[in-house]
Amino acid sequence: MFTADHWQSLKSHAEALKGTSLRQLFAADPERFGRLSRAHNDLLIDFSKCRLTAETLALLCSLARAAGVEARRDAMFAGEKINATEKRAVLHTALRNLSDDPVIVDGDDVMPDVREVLAALGDFAEGLRAGEITGATGKAFTDVVNIGIGGSDLGPVMTTLALAPYHDGPRLHYVSNVDGAHLADTLKSLDPETTLFIVASKTFTTIETMTNARSARLWVANALGERAVGDHFAAVSTAIDKVAAFGIEPSRVFGFWDWVGGRYSVWSAIGLPLMIAIGPDAFAEFLEGAHDMDRHFRTAPLEDNLPVLMGLVGVWNRNALGHAARAVLPYDQRLSRLPAYLQQLDMESNGKGVTLDGAPVAVETGPLVWGEPGTNGQHAFYQLLHQGTTVIPCEFIVAAQGHESDLAHHHEMLVANCLAQSEALMLGRTEAEARAQLAATGLDPEEIERLVPHKVFPGDRPSLTIVHDQLTPFALGRLIALYEHRVFVEGVIWGINSFDQWGVELGKELATALLPMVRGEADASAKDSSTRGLLAALRNV
Ligand code: F6P
Repeated sequence: MFTADHWQSLKSHAEALKGTSLRQLFAADPERFGRLSRAHNDLLIDFSKCRLTAETLALLCSLARAAGVEARRDAMFAGEKINATEKRAVLHTALRNLSDDPVIVDGDDVMPDVREVLAALGDFAEGLRAGEITGATGKAFTDVVNIGIGGSDLGPVMTTLALAPYHDGPRLHYVSNVDGAHLADTLKSLDPETTLFIVASKTFTTIETMTNARSARLWVANALGERAVGDHFAAVSTAIDKVAAFGIEPSRVFGFWDWVGGRYSVWSAIGLPLMIAIGPDAFAEFLEGAHDMDRHFRTAPLEDNLPVLMGLVGVWNRNALGHAARAVLPYDQRLSRLPAYLQQLDMESNGKGVTLDGAPVAVETGPLVWGEPGTNGQHAFYQLLHQGTTVIPCEFIVAAQGHESDLAHHHEMLVANCLAQSEALMLGRTEAEARAQLAATGLDPEEIERLVPHKVFPGDRPSLTIVHDQLTPFALGRLIALYEHRVFVEGVIWGINSFDQWGVELGKELATALLPMVRGEADASAKDSSTRGLLAALRNV
C-alpha cells in the first residue's frame, strides 16, 4: 500500500543527496552512465545526468509498486473504465494493437471495428493519393486541409512535420485557431478545385473547429457551387449524427470511440492526414512503433521499463527536488511541434488538483512542460537554463542519424551541440575554472575579478537524454507512446485521473456568454470591472 511514508523516505533520500553534486557523483562512479541508462533496442535513455543514484531508482520503483502502477497499467490495457469521472475505458493502445489479441470493452471485442476503420482510412488515403478520389470538377486533390484543434490538430500536425522525409502524398495544411487569420492565410495559396478539407473533431461541437469548417464550406460553395461541397469534405469524429447534420456524406466520415481521448487520438482516424501524407504502409509502421512501446511497457520489469523510469524520474524531479517545470528539447528540427504536442498530452492529462476520489491532492502534480528544438533554443532561452535562478530539468532528444546524407556534417554539429548542452548543465563552470579561462586570454587581474562572477556556471542541473537511430515512422510512434505511458505512470503515482479535462470547460462557457457582449448585443454590466473595461476598449477601436 502506498503511504505518506513513501513520500517521506523519498524526501529524506533527496535531503541526503543534497550535499553531493552531479560532478561529484560522476567522479565517484566511472560506471555511472552504464548504471543509470537503459535501452530498449535502439532506443536509449540516459538518466545518469539526473540528480539521482541507483538507490534513488530502487526507491522510486518501490514507490511505483506501492502505488499500484502495474495493476493500473493492466487495468488500462484490459479496457477497465479507469477514466472514472467520464466512466470510460482508456484504450488508445487498442488502435495500435497489431497483434491478434482481442481488446474487450463492455463484453465486446473492439478490434474488429478498429480494423474496419483502419482499412476504410487506408482505402480513402490510397484513393486520394492515387488521384482516384477527385474533387467536383474531376481534378485530383493536391492539397488537404485538416480543420481541428487540440488533440484533433496537434497529433497530426506534429507527426506530419516529423515525418516529412516520408511524404509522397498531397500537401497537408492545418487550421486550428478560430482567429480568421489562420484560415485566411492557409486558403490564400489554395485552389478550391484541388483542395479537400477534413473536419476533425471528436465531439463535433468544438466552436473553433465548427466555425472554421463553416467558413471553409462557404469558400468551396462560393467557388464551385453548393453541390460541390460533398466532394470536398471528409470528417473524423465520434459524433457521427452531428457530422451528418453538417452535410458530409457517410462514406467520407471516419469514426472513432469514446475510449480514445482527444490527446491520445493520433492513432485513430484523427491520424488520417498523416496517413494521406505518408501512405498507409508507413502509417502502419508508425502504429507498430507505438505497439512495440506498449509491449515493452506491459512486460519489462519496472527497473528496466523506460516509460516507468521516465515517469518516476518526473515524480522525483517534481516532488522530491521541487522542480515545477521541465523542458523538452528535441535536437531535431522536424520535432519542432513535439513540445507543443507534449504540452497538451502532459498538462491536460496531469494538470489536476484532486485525486480520483475528489480529495485535494497532497503533493504537487503535473509540471509546466515547454520547449523548442535545439540548436535554436540555445540562442534564445538556454541562458536561463544555465545561469538563471530557476532550475529546469531538461529532456534532450536526438537521433544517431538524420535523413540528409548529403548534409551529414550538419547532423554531426547537431549531435555535438546536444551533448555539449547536457554536459554544460551537469558540469557547470567553477570560479577557479572561470578565472583560469579569463587569465588565459591575457586580461589584467582587476578585469578578471570583475568578470568572474558572470562567467561562473552553477552546473548541477539535471537532464535526461533520449537517443534513437533515426526519426522513422516506427521510431516516432515509439517515442510518442513512451511519453504517453510516462504521463500515465506519473498520474497513477499522484492518484489523479489523467484522462479527463474538466479544466478547459469554464473558459469555454464564459466565452459563449461573452460573445453577445462582444457583438454589443447583450448587457455587460454584471461583469467585473476588468472584463467591462477590456470589452469597452476592444469595442471602441
Ligand atoms: O478543449 C480541450 C479539448 O476538449 C481537447 O481535449 C480536445 O483535444 C480538443 O478540445 C478538441 O476537441 P474535439 O476533438 O472534440 O473538437
